[in-house]
Amino acid sequence: MCGIVGYIGTRKASPILIDGLLKLEYRGYDSAGISTIENGYISNMKDKGRVKNLYEIPGIDDLTGTIGIAHTRWATHGKPAKENSHPHMDNSNLFSVVHNGIIENYQELKEFLIGNGYHFISQTDTEIIPNLIHYYYTKNAQNENRLLHAIHLACKDLKGSYAIEVLCMDEPNTMIVARKDSPLVIGVGENENYISSDIPAILSYTKSFYLLNDGDLAKLSKDSVSFYDMDLTPIKKEVKNIEWDVSACEKDGYEDFMLKEIYEQPKSVRETIGSRLKKNEKVNFDDIGFTKETLSNFNMIYMVACGTAMHAGLAVKPMLEKLCHIPVTVDIASEFRYREPLIDEHTLCIYISQSGETADTIAALKLSKAKGATTLAISNVIGSSITREADYTIYTHAGPEIAVASTKAYTSQITLLTLLTLYFAEVLESVSADTIDNIKSELLLLPEKISEALKNVEKVKNFAHKVYTEKDIFFLGRGTDYTVAMEASLKLKEISYIHSEAYASGELKHGPIALIENGITVVGILTDPNLVEKSVSNLQEVITRGAKTLVVTNQEINKENYDEVIEIPSTHPLISPIISIIPLQLFSYYISKEKGLDVDKPRNLAKSVTVE
Ligand code: M6R
Repeated sequence: MCGIVGYIGTRKASPILIDGLLKLEYRGYDSAGISTIENGYISNMKDKGRVKNLYEIPGIDDLTGTIGIAHTRWATHGKPAKENSHPHMDNSNLFSVVHNGIIENYQELKEFLIGNGYHFISQTDTEIIPNLIHYYYTKNAQNENRLLHAIHLACKDLKGSYAIEVLCMDEPNTMIVARKDSPLVIGVGENENYISSDIPAILSYTKSFYLLNDGDLAKLSKDSVSFYDMDLTPIKKEVKNIEWDVSACEKDGYEDFMLKEIYEQPKSVRETIGSRLKKNEKVNFDDIGFTKETLSNFNMIYMVACGTAMHAGLAVKPMLEKLCHIPVTVDIASEFRYREPLIDEHTLCIYISQSGETADTIAALKLSKAKGATTLAISNVIGSSITREADYTIYTHAGPEIAVASTKAYTSQITLLTLLTLYFAEVLESVSADTIDNIKSELLLLPEKISEALKNVEKVKNFAHKVYTEKDIFFLGRGTDYTVAMEASLKLKEISYIHSEAYASGELKHGPIALIENGITVVGILTDPNLVEKSVSNLQEVITRGAKTLVVTNQEINKENYDEVIEIPSTHPLISPIISIIPLQLFSYYISKEKGLDVDKPRNLAKSVTVE
């Protein structure tokens, strides 16, 4: 979960590297560093803390090298400290390496290297890489492609995940990169090439990219890139042109990316619907083209994901079961992958991941593929790892999501899964056309209704101001409202550091109500007309015990019973999460602001969880 950037060209590398790191800081932000080649030697500057601290390092402004690598860290092995920051160099200062991922067998490799006279100054797993490269480099002194061979041999020894960039003092006009289970892209410019962990960080320099597959290596000069597979056989790659706009990766006048992304939801949901849904037409998924026979073959659907993406799956499960009559299990990827799930060729496994790089989700996908299941990836990032593993891929098209807390990706994931459900139901002819048409009409109204829900901002802000010093906040709901409660609770924990729990309202009496005491804050979500009375009774139970209540609803309820009521537009109950989450995203945002926290980069978290 770190961010890496690289540059090789004709311009000064350091400002480009730091600019890229600043854009990748959401991936990790406890230390940063850069290496450039300066008049034949490798300069290595790094420190703990944020990327901006690099500007304080004496001499950093004097760097003139036109080749360099850079890293922003999310600590796994070794505390945030200068010596654990990347880049790491080998003992003879011949190689400099940045790494994103985890080397699982680093202890074993470290002992091997110590046995061969090497010593280590950091507690990281990464430091073995430059030394291992050095080991093979000195052993193969006669090899004409010595550097590439040494890196290839070192990579073959590594178990775990890595995206690495390597500089070598002997070859000051060459950079070598490699990846396995960690993201890496190469941006192509004129007489220059860029490397990054993701596309947005270098989108202001180029829109043409090469995507690396697992096991690939690339050798770069300023005007060429050569690719090799894991056996070092040369391979060819096509340049992909990315349509994202640079402004999509900027704050655009908003104070934070999260706020911008919350307000982008009318647009992002509209983009997700795109041309898949048009009035009086069938839902279009020609890109996956499942037939009735294919769909009838599935007797079980799994939706597997992590965090918010998993909550999107939970929100859609009731609809998928109701409209398609296929049992659906939603599972946490890190659990699914280790518990031998009962899946076979009659199972459809849907993997949901905004980044498409989440390690557990990718591992779960690989497992289900091996068991013969059909795999379908839902991602927001074109060409991401998950999309290259799955049998089928569909994109959310929500635009780049930069804030660590996921907002627009969630509403786009539910929208896309809803479209998919309607498509399945149409192909299977499993429900009446009226039922489907009803939901379709509501889907087309979503952008407008999300805009309407956003208008509650002042009320939400006021309530956030009243409760931001609380220690615990509870979220309650039934049915799809319960799934929204879970997502709202995660959002709050993540960016406000307030302890929070989500409960199915009916479960309250089975234990959690013991926690309700005078003055505690409880948020209720009430959007399902069939469950509203029961949910109102549950809220009454907490009010009786002294709770302060915030209610998000589109139902007729007695508003006087509650401290604050946020009214949202009504819609089909099965897709209400797409609207009811909106004020609750704002709620977390404003609590975090009241507490003076860094909304976009909450502590201990990173946007892409590329390690287990
Ligand atoms: O990129 P992914 O959708 O696979 O990420 C999954 C989770 O790590 C992610 O949703 C996380 O829970 C968010 N930070 C929540 O806001």
